Amino acid sequence: MDYKIAVIKGDGIGPEIVDQAITVLEAVSEKCGISFVFSEVLMGGCAIDKYGLPLPESTLKTCKESDSVLLGAVGGPKWEGLPGDSTPEAGLLGIRAGLGLYANLRPAVIYEALREASPLKPGIVDGKIDILVVRELTGGIYFGERGRSEKGTPNEWAYDTEKYSVPEIERIARIAFEAASKRRGIVTSVDKANVLESSRLWREVVTKVSKDYPGIALNHMYVDNAAMQLIRNPGQFDVIVTTNMFGDILSDEASMITGSIGMLPSASLGSGKPGLYEPIHGSAPDIAGQDKANPIATVLSAAMMLRYSLGENFAADLIENAVVRVLDKGYRTSDIAYYGGTVVGTREMGRLIAEEVRRAEF
Ligand code: IPM
Ligand code: MG
Repeated sequence: MDYKIAVIKGDGIGPEIVDQAITVLEAVSEKCGISFVFSEVLMGGCAIDKYGLPLPESTLKTCKESDSVLLGAVGGPKWEGLPGDSTPEAGLLGIRAGLGLYANLRPAVIYEALREASPLKPGIVDGKIDILVVRELTGGIYFGERGRSEKGTPNEWAYDTEKYSVPEIERIARIAFEAASKRRGIVTSVDKANVLESSRLWREVVTKVSKDYPGIALNHMYVDNAAMQLIRNPGQFDVIVTTNMFGDILSDEASMITGSIGMLPSASLGSGKPGLYEPIHGSAPDIAGQDKANPIATVLSAAMMLRYSLGENFAADLIENAVVRVLDKGYRTSDIAYYGGTVVGTREMGRLIAEEVRRAEF
């Protein structure tokens, strides 16, 4: 089976981390007899430099014609200050919308070997921490009407709007309930229904959808409380379903519980193919090109791609198990090396994971 994968390396550390995910996929390919055809396309700052816009039509076309999209990260100081619709980030939002990827799955899992890397005290992270943040990805304030008055005028103003429709809430709620039915069966819906009208609708619709899933326990939480509960007692969460912006914020918070944002992969899914797979972190321009970045979030994103878009569950397990073995052997990139271990660079971490994939016995 030949899988067509569109590859968007992006900016900053993007190219380095994606290269390691490809190294690992090549090992999977040898091991499992599946093959990948990678087509590299540009998006983000590098596309602005080459084509004058962050998301060229040809990039979106290649992505649409592929089985899935693997993405590094976009953005950097070089492109800050551009008008809102021509930033690297606008390219990222454009590709999410252009592919109809309304559901963003962000699993935050504590690895046994990294328990000490969590900034939370033992006692708080003693049990199993396995949280799936289901973030709505193509609506809300990210895509609502916005405006700005003329710059520099007295009383200068700007606004962004949060708007959700019933179908938008229904479909993301279903993703969360379905996911919970394969996990511990608890959905926490996060909103700000004590203040926002859009949140009151969100809460009503999620409650209505929950009636179709009688085996799942639903609770609602205000976002400020959720931010607090995540560090007070992260073990209480199974699936968190929330809006685009709250999901952006809470997934960064959840990632840190696991020790580093460099560990968190994500899958963005719509109703058809392709899905898009990217680490949740950004392009980290401060460490770009230094062989320092942690490639694990991107490697695990490739595993999610195998599982969710390609149905290659066995190959996905191979990668996830290889990551566990490399961590168990004490190898660490610098972001997860608070408690020692053998500190390795980006490339070496990728090579070690690929080697474990090749070594797996089955
Ligand atoms: C993320 C990022 C993006 C987002 C930025 C880069 C636009 O923070 O994927 O979490 O806010 O969605
Ligand atoms: Mg974010």
